[in-house]
Amino acid sequence: MSAPVPMIAGNWKMHGTAAALAEAQQVAGADLPAGVRVALCPPATLVERMSRTLQGGPVLVGGQDCHPEPQGAHTGDVSAEMLAEAGAKLVILGHSERRAGYGESDEVVAAKVAAALRAALEPVVCVGETLAEREGGKTLDVVTWQVRRSLPEALSARPFTVAYEPVWAIGSGLTPSLGDIEEVHAAIRETLVEKFGEAGARTAILYGGSVKPANAREILALPEVGGALVGGASLKASDFLGIIGAAGAR
Ligand code: 13P
Repeated sequence: MSAPVPMIAGNWKMHGTAAALAEAQQVAGADLPAGVRVALCPPATLVERMSRTLQGGPVLVGGQDCHPEPQGAHTGDVSAEMLAEAGAKLVILGHSERRAGYGESDEVVAAKVAAALRAALEPVVCVGETLAEREGGKTLDVVTWQVRRSLPEALSARPFTVAYEPVWAIGSGLTPSLGDIEEVHAAIRETLVEKFGEAGARTAILYGGSVKPANAREILALPEVGGALVGGASLKASDFLGIIGAAGAR
């Protein structure tokens, strides 16, 4: 059984106009460690340009969300097929900012995952507890429940990635203790193997939430942490490269 291939993915969220492509070029042009997958997920408006700019290089480009349908009367939405045509290879789905801000349920996330597969995009599916859920001792229940319900059976035959992002750690500068991260990742692994067998053992489980060059090394060294999903620190090439370097040093 092969071990998961580590990935460092940057989620630019609603940041970045054409000028920011220089940061992406700097990342792609750096001496990246072998054996680490690197991805950048810019706003939808930049997916095509970034894909063209980075074409043939080591950095994968991804979207941040997609609609479950391939096309239709859905003002403001983008389909998985559109992202794929623009050059995306993967798509972040079920981010807590979408779950909380747009009321996305696990069922909606699962439909989006199915859409990503239809368009041959690799889904990066996010799960994570709120502060109230953590304080209420519900973290493992919430996270494993989200994993079970957000990931459709069809995934067993396709590459996919899971990202554990505690909602309260996103953009706050706070992170769970290393022991807490380890505990949640172990529970996610167990759930993935239960649900998908060997495919669940091969899936990389990323940690996300206030990952910086200064804390990346200790987080990435934890068992079952197969990389990071990085928000703020992915906007600056030097910070993002620091985190990628920490993954290479694992
Ligand atoms: P920060 O790294 O800015 O905390 O964001 C994490 C995140 O939400 C990545 O998807």
